[in-house]
Amino acid sequence: MDEKPNTEEKKDTLMTRRYFLEFVGGGAILVAATGSAVLTGQFLSPNVLREPSLRFKAGSVEIYPPDSITLDKEQKVFIVRAKEGYFYAISAVCTHLGCIANWKSEDDIIACPCHGSKFDKEGRIIDGPAPRPLQRFAIMVDEQGQLIVDKGVIVSEDTILKV
Ligand code: FES
Repeated sequence: MDEKPNTEEKKDTLMTRRYFLEFVGGGAILVAATGSAVLTGQFLSPNVLREPSLRFKAGSVEIYPPDSITLDKEQKVFIVRAKEGYFYAISAVCTHLGCIANWKSEDDIIACPCHGSKFDKEGRIIDGPAPRPLQRFAIMVDEQGQLIVDKGVIVSEDTILKV
């Protein structure tokens, strides 16, 4: 009579130990499998550097009055609307050493604060040391009347957008 409860007790203890070992073993296999899957995913995904788009919306055509030049500080681009109404976009990055130039309405020039380069409203050099004119970017208007500038597309100095 005394043996039976003892055997049952041993069986219970064994089950508990077996359950524990299965649990720990299963957990270890799950952790190893998850780690392998993550590493395999990282290995198979392309190692690409994500850069912000060079194309941006510059707002509605109507916000730019004729005969105006507006600096988009974030994009470092001047949006120019001529008095005839057409548009063009020129870089605000000085071609000397890359400082950001400013529009000086009192002198009607774009001036670089770093070493004194001066450009006209078209981005042409008035005074050095800048070696090249300011770059002109592609500009277009979408169906909603929003200006789109693409800094990835450099266009010739006489390219304009008629609206
Ligand atoms: S960076 Fe503009 S003049 Fe030198």
